[in-house]
This record gives sequence, C-alpha cells and structure tokens, in this order.
Amino acid sequence: MILHHFVLIIHLLAATIWVGGHLLLAICYLPTALKKKDPHIILNFEKKFEALGMSSLALLIITGIWMAYDFGVTMETWFAFKSGFEKVVSIKLILLFCTFICAICAQFYVIPNLNETNIKRIAVIIISVTSIGVAMLVLGSTLRYGGI
Ligand code: HEM
Repeated sequence: MILHHFVLIIHLLAATIWVGGHLLLAICYLPTALKKKDPHIILNFEKKFEALGMSSLALLIITGIWMAYDFGVTMETWFAFKSGFEKVVSIKLILLFCTFICAICAQFYVIPNLNETNIKRIAVIIISVTSIGVAMLVLGSTLRYGGI
C-alpha cells in the first residue's frame, strides 16, 4: 500500500513534467516561433527538455504498468475493453503508442528538414503530443473512481 502510494507520487511528478513541459512549449514557445518564423526557438527548447522529458515518459510507463499490475490489470487482460479500469489502461497504452508515432515523425521526418517555410509541421506534432498528454492525465484522473 505504502509502496503503491510512493509509485503513484513518482507517476504524478513525471506526469507534471511531461504534460507541463509540453503545455509550456505549446502555449509559450510555439506561438512566438510561429510569429517570428524561427524554428530555433522550438529546437532550443527541445534540446534542453529532451533528457528530462524522455526520462519522465519512461517513468510514466514503468510506474503506470506497475500500478496497473497492482490493480490486477495484467498484460493478458490489456485491450479486452471489459472492465472500466482496464479500459482506461488500454486507452492509455494506445495513446502512448500514438505519442511514439509522433516522436518518430518528428525525429526522422520533420526536425531534420525544419525551416521557416515548413514550421507548421512541427506545430501539428507539438499540439498532438500535448493534447495526447492532457488526455492521458484526464484518463488517469478517472481511475480513482474505477475508470470509464
Ligand atoms: C503521458 C502519460 C501519462 C500521464 C500524463 C498520466 C497521468 C496520470 C494521472 C494524473 C493519474 C491520476 C492519479 C490520481 O488520480 O490519483 C494517473 C493514474 C494512473 N495511471 Fe497514468 N499517466 C500516464 C501514463 C500511464 C501509463 C502508460 C499507464 C499504464 C499503462 C498508466 C497507468 C495509471 C494507473 C494504473 C493509474 C492509477 C493509480 C492509482 O490511482 O493508484 N498511466 N495517471
């Protein structure tokens, strides 16, 4: 019980960093970068945030799966969409996969060719990853009532 609470606190701290960092990027840095047509504003933020952001995402996955197992939502039950709790965990895993797809698109297709004419492409990715993060947070908040 105490261990679960400790793991939950790590999960919440990691969620704060992951979602907070992306909201900061989407609300403060992205509009300035779009207005000035300057991709470096985004690239500089990403360079500074990358290590912290990626480690908090890794912690979210480890602690999330740990807590899901504590509640009996094990790998064999994922994606069955039967109980309220398992439904939320399965949707979170699908949204996590969508986050990976966005990261792959950004790293391999968008960032290497980013310039002032195609800056809107990275805006689409930033807004998608931020919205997915907020959706995961809202879904997480339903779990204390048994999920959806
Ligand atoms: C961006 C990623 C994520 C965010 C922002 C996030 C956010 C949250 C939040 C805000 C809570 C609410 C805790 C509470 O109400 O006390 C929560 C709970 C939870 N999350 Fe996540 N989460 C993420 C990823 C994951 C993943 C990948 C899993 C597992 C597959 C997961 C599994 C859980 C579980 C099982 C709980 C319930 C813990 C409890 O109430 O004891 N989460 N999450």
